[in-house]
Amino acid sequence: MHSDKITAPEIRARKQAGPKIAMLTAYDATIAHLLDEGGADVLLVGDSLGMVVQGLPSTLAVTIEEMCYHGRAVVRATQRAHVVGDLPFMSYQTSPERALDAAGRMLKEGAFEAVKLEGGEPMAEHVRRIVEVGIPVMGHVGLTPQSVHAMGGFRVQGRTEDAAAGIIADARALDEAGVYAIVLEGIPAELAARITRTVSVPTIGIGAGPHCDGQVLVCYDFLGMYQDIRPKFVKRFAELGEAISAATRDYVTQVQGGAFPTAEHSFGPVSAGADTGSKALVSGDPPGYGPAGDDDA
Ligand code: KIV
Repeated sequence: MHSDKITAPEIRARKQAGPKIAMLTAYDATIAHLLDEGGADVLLVGDSLGMVVQGLPSTLAVTIEEMCYHGRAVVRATQRAHVVGDLPFMSYQTSPERALDAAGRMLKEGAFEAVKLEGGEPMAEHVRRIVEVGIPVMGHVGLTPQSVHAMGGFRVQGRTEDAAAGIIADARALDEAGVYAIVLEGIPAELAARITRTVSVPTIGIGAGPHCDGQVLVCYDFLGMYQDIRPKFVKRFAELGEAISAATRDYVTQVQGGAFPTAEHSFGPVSAGADTGSKALVSGDPPGYGPAGDDDA
């Protein structure tokens, strides 16, 4: 393990010791590397990948194999951040034993350091079973996207006294079952504050106001990659969507107008006496492409 690596016990200890937990989703090695270098504490390979990577209307179709494929890519590119993977829909709900098998696969095949699962009291036994073999579990209550159909859409939860009490009971049950942190999604800020005061583990909010012990956002949201969708709970820390569209327009213009590529981006002739005439495109640590003209040296 890298010496700076953030662990599940360290995340748990942030409840008392701080600082607040800064978590982001990541799905591939390039983004994971950048977010890790930027100092994100936790990278979540969320099953949101079904929506933001695969273009599906919900997270329900995502499989363990897909989670593990993305997990391996993210883990490979990450030195410091703690890497968590979502247990996909129906990989764990049916029994504690099934949940344990699924969690084990996530660590063995996906290289994850912890798993996250959705649901409260009904999942407490499942959490206990996974935690007792030594796999850290992060909980997730409130707006649980795998229950999209039961919720009638992606809707803020816990707006009545009864609903709020249910979410508090869910968070308590997970805490008692041994989770090391709990994501609170899509609930009123005051309810999130109450849960944060109640449970012994850190809460990590998304659409849950400022009083949690940490925050998580989907990476494409915080990077401003969606032009049309701007949920209220998202703050855009960059406008990469606009930058990518503008760069693409520029690229198309240059390719079609003959401005790119030029001699500057081209390789020279085969040098006399060379064995094969071929040169590596990449030398050193990828992606260390040499400057123009290197191949003639
Ligand atoms: O799947 C996901 O990205 C998540 C976060 C939004 C918490 O569960």
